[in-house]
Amino acid sequence: MPTILRNITLAVLLTAAAIACDALLTEPAGEGETFDAPLPGLTIVQHAAFVRGDEAFGKIFSVREGLGPLFNQTSCESCHPGDGRGSPRTKLVRFGFWNGVSFDPLLARGGPQLQERSIPGVTPEVLPPEANAISVRIGPPVFGLGLIEAIPDSVILANADETDADANGISGRPNWVSAPDFVGMGPGPHLGRFGRKAGVAFLLHQVVNAYQQDIGITTDYLPVENAHPQAGVPVRDDAPDPELSASVVNDVVFYLQTLAPPRRGDETPVVLRGKQLFASIGCASCHIPTLQTGNHAITALSNREVELFSDLLLHDMGPELADGLYEGVATGTEWRTAPLWGLRLVREFLGGAAAYLHDGRTSDLREAIRAHGGEAQSVRDAFLQLSEQEKQALTEFLESL
Ligand code: HEC
Ligand code: HEC
Repeated sequence: MPTILRNITLAVLLTAAAIACDALLTEPAGEGETFDAPLPGLTIVQHAAFVRGDEAFGKIFSVREGLGPLFNQTSCESCHPGDGRGSPRTKLVRFGFWNGVSFDPLLARGGPQLQERSIPGVTPEVLPPEANAISVRIGPPVFGLGLIEAIPDSVILANADETDADANGISGRPNWVSAPDFVGMGPGPHLGRFGRKAGVAFLLHQVVNAYQQDIGITTDYLPVENAHPQAGVPVRDDAPDPELSASVVNDVVFYLQTLAPPRRGDETPVVLRGKQLFASIGCASCHIPTLQTGNHAITALSNREVELFSDLLLHDMGPELADGLYEGVATGTEWRTAPLWGLRLVREFLGGAAAYLHDGRTSDLREAIRAHGGEAQSVRDAFLQLSEQEKQALTEFLESL
């Protein structure tokens, strides 16, 4: 067959295969079984941005492309595998100094984030000896974040009870944080939603910071490398700044905004029993099952019920979970209620292991519940008093989310 004909035949065959695949993809067997699927209802143009963002999120940076000079990992995906949570293997450490009155993020000593890796020729950071607040964190899952961003402040604030007016021992409060100029939303204060202490209000801020702090990649939004005061001399990589365009950053933001939460598991009788217990012993006071989004420019995010199992508020969780780190108005014992959606698939991208809580300290759900103290103490105690069967039902419910 002449080359040209052969190529045409090949093209026809490939197109046929693509169409077949497409037909299959409308109802894939594993629908709702991953963290990396788009929300339903994206337009073709939006879907294209989603695909570009997906690729950028997985991209591994080389030194030539601008990695470092200081960094933690070489891609977003290293700490958010499969768009799920990270593991202690790719943990991130933040530090600071607390003198009993005020908190110092030790900017002059390379704080608040420890970059323990560096490109050749540059010394990595070490924990300064004066750091007495050391926070170990694993990457949270990154699906459903557009839905979280689309929940109006008023909906979140309606659940805040700063003075514990209802005297149930639980007093969720908002984190109030600032936003840099490049976000374009004014300096704030803004309601924090992202990060383990809700220290960030907008996804764009989170993404730009992650590029600069975690991978050492400068962007149109933040064209300067992270400082390295511990080195004593200016350090740089060979790639010209900015290393990444605003359009790639925007694609990543769009990707995170439109990642769908996975499908809920089956509601077996045991799961239903667990669901009842979750509500009756008080877990749902903080892990609020659903919040509603408002109007949004992305239709797929507008006026949706979000089954995230969080109030997105800060709670004092007691000494066992405390890290001593302050962020916005969050203190060293406060954490944002962890959303519980997707617990069903936690092991999927972690090689079969699970890692719960901000630092991934346990792979055992009961252990994660037992570590709840502070405002959650009485609810935790109620859990410990359940019968073995009831505890089993409650954990089966969690594993169905
Ligand atoms: C070294 C590991 C690491 C890398 C690399 C990393 N992240 Fe993260 N990510 C984390 C940790 C840890 C947190 C929680 C931070 C906190 O509590 O402030 C986080 C939080 C987030 C959040 C907020 C999620 C939530 O539920 O609140 C988003 C969004 C995010 N990262 C996106 C990214 C993007 C985009 C990149 C790449 C540009 C990236 N991350 C690279 C570890 C990492
Ligand atoms: C006072 C608020 C509060 C109450 C009540 C509460 N939690 Fe939590 N929960 C949190 C916070 C905050 C975190 C995040 C703590 C951390 O990461 O250190 C969390 C984390 C978790 C985690 C780990 C999630 C993850 O992704 O790693 C699970 C599981 C959990 N809670 C289940 C429960 C159950 C079950 C109950 C009821 C017995 C309960 N919680 C009651 C606030 C609460």
